[in-house]
Amino acid sequence: MQIGKLKFKMPMLQAALSGYTDRAMRMLARRFGCELTFSGVMLDKCACHKSVLRMKNYQIHEDDHPIGGQLLGTDPKIMAQAAQNFVNQGYDVIDLNFACPAPKVLRRGRGGAMLDNPRLVIEIFRAVRDAVNCPLMMKLRIGIDESEAAREDFWRICEDAISGGVDALIVHGRTTSQYFRGKADWSVIEELKKKYPAATIIGSGDLFEAADIIEKMKIAGIDGVAIARGAIGKPWLFRQIIDQLEGETEIYKPDISEQGRIILDHLDMLCELYEPKKRVWYFRKFLAHYSKGHAAGRKLKMELVTAHDEDQLRTAIKKWYDVS
Ligand SMILES: Cc1cc2nc3c(=O)[nH]c(=O)nc-3n(C[C@H](O)[C@H](O)[C@H](O)COP(=O)(O)O)c2cc1C
Repeated sequence: MQIGKLKFKMPMLQAALSGYTDRAMRMLARRFGCELTFSGVMLDKCACHKSVLRMKNYQIHEDDHPIGGQLLGTDPKIMAQAAQNFVNQGYDVIDLNFACPAPKVLRRGRGGAMLDNPRLVIEIFRAVRDAVNCPLMMKLRIGIDESEAAREDFWRICEDAISGGVDALIVHGRTTSQYFRGKADWSVIEELKKKYPAATIIGSGDLFEAADIIEKMKIAGIDGVAIARGAIGKPWLFRQIIDQLEGETEIYKPDISEQGRIILDHLDMLCELYEPKKRVWYFRKFLAHYSKGHAAGRKLKMELVTAHDEDQLRTAIKKWYDVS
């Protein structure tokens, strides 16, 4: 997979997931072989505030490269300034978000709401292209809704972005109005790659199991996949994809104790990022996913997500996961 001047051994990246892809989740992805990770989307205006970029959570460490930064906004000048600030901050790749379906984002005409305005999307793309030298990509959904006009807008955006030199397109095979309902339509992603074989096309949507991910990628004939929800509570999915691609007969699966150690390592990294109270409640959403891989499922989840403090949480993890 190639994104501008950056070349990757494996055809995958860790997608931007707001509220999840902090340094801890990114470093776990890297541990399991993911070469390119993203932090969560940031509003362009926030990226124009030095005080925001100085916050601990937005600092980029030397061992966290290459890393992509994703921006959301509607004003080409502000987006261009924000992208420059991201590059100065240490981001290696810039991604423009025209995909977010969150109601608060759509209400302000941002993200996925912009897909019916190809002119503005491309104006933003050009302004950012002129402002930064690093690889520049765009994240799209396959249209604002299921109408023909929406699909035409989608193709217009793809065509203009590709002819304008976008380094990669990440396409989530759902429309904005679909939110996360139904199944991602991978046929549109396949069609896009067929139309523009020289462009780097990265597919997104319903990527949870290694074998299925590779099948989707092969059928669509695309350059890579963006792993999103599938890696929450299962960071070893990246390693499983690599094993599958390399034709390993045994696909890596950490046993219960190893899973426990990974969860504890994750918690250790959160300790460097968040205050004691926050780290315990913030970790709950991850624990709910980690516990799915355990035979005790619901019972374990209840105990983990109701732990009051870090000591209680660590003790419960060690007990259930048999970590000494
Ligand atoms: C909680 C959550 C946060 C997300 N945050 C972002 C984001 O910041 N930027 C983005 O482009 N996509 C974001 N997405 C979308 C994912 O990157 C991905 O495109 C989508 O989840 C489809 O892939 P999946 O079905 O394999 O999870 C988010 C999705 C979820 C569930």
